[in-house]
Amino acid sequence: RTVAVVLAGGTGTRLGLGIPKQLLKIAGKPIIEHTLAVFEAAPEIDEIIVLMASGHVAEAQQIVDKAGFRKVTKVIEGGDTRNATTRVALDAVGEADCNILFHDAVRPLLSGRIVRECVNALWTYPAVDVAIPSADTIIQVDENECITDIPVRATLRRGQTPQAFRSSTIREAYRRAAGDPNFAATDDCGVVLRYLPEVPIKVIDGSDENIKVTHPVDVHLADKLFQLAAAKVPRLADHRAYSDEVSGRTIVVFGG
Ligand code: CTP
Repeated sequence: RTVAVVLAGGTGTRLGLGIPKQLLKIAGKPIIEHTLAVFEAAPEIDEIIVLMASGHVAEAQQIVDKAGFRKVTKVIEGGDTRNATTRVALDAVGEADCNILFHDAVRPLLSGRIVRECVNALWTYPAVDVAIPSADTIIQVDENECITDIPVRATLRRGQTPQAFRSSTIREAYRRAAGDPNFAATDDCGVVLRYLPEVPIKVIDGSDENIKVTHPVDVHLADKLFQLAAAKVPRLADHRAYSDEVSGRTIVVFGG
């Protein structure tokens, strides 16, 4: 059994809309509805559990009912932090061994390809992360905003979600974390890395389109990406370029 946990317990303070950002409509639907539709359509996913921000559980349930998502078995309240929300989800999943994918509700442009590769990788690895290379140089700073380190870019990735685990692995990591008074993490692979350092965490390729709607500009980007998807416009990633021998110009062909 493979369960998708959709983490929607946050309130979106950086977007600052006054409603949780997962309820914002993009391309005619609430962001969370787009996200749920990907898991509903993914053949690898058997069940979906939604963890919603306090005070908005009924709204999320209405979205699920209206869209007719049959795989969603629970819509419940999340916790105060993202990791607290994960803990609530682990209780909700039940004791039986299964695969669990944790996904940010606010990454509505997740692809079926990424879901499939996460689930496939769990046959070989107990923990799986999704990431993309960083186009920007990543710098480390101290409390005075002065550089302390510039790690080699080729070794860096930008983490996305889903993060996928065998249930026994993620449960054990959180069980150990519960005994640590200094527990601090922002994602679930971080909990496994810290408390089960012997466990290999496989990284599979994410996508530039799998953005996390975080800042106002992301709303415009996501909207545009949905428009392109609806119009079936070939993606830049599908292009090939060649130099025309007569004119000497570079010609770019999309989708072919
Ligand atoms: N999340 C959650 N429970 C929390 C906090 C966050 O399930 N207590 C979820 C969010 O709903 C989101 C994902 O984790 O889908 C990624 O978090 P982030 O982008 O930081 O969302 P918010 O916490 O809502 O945003 P902000 O940090 O701007 O307040």
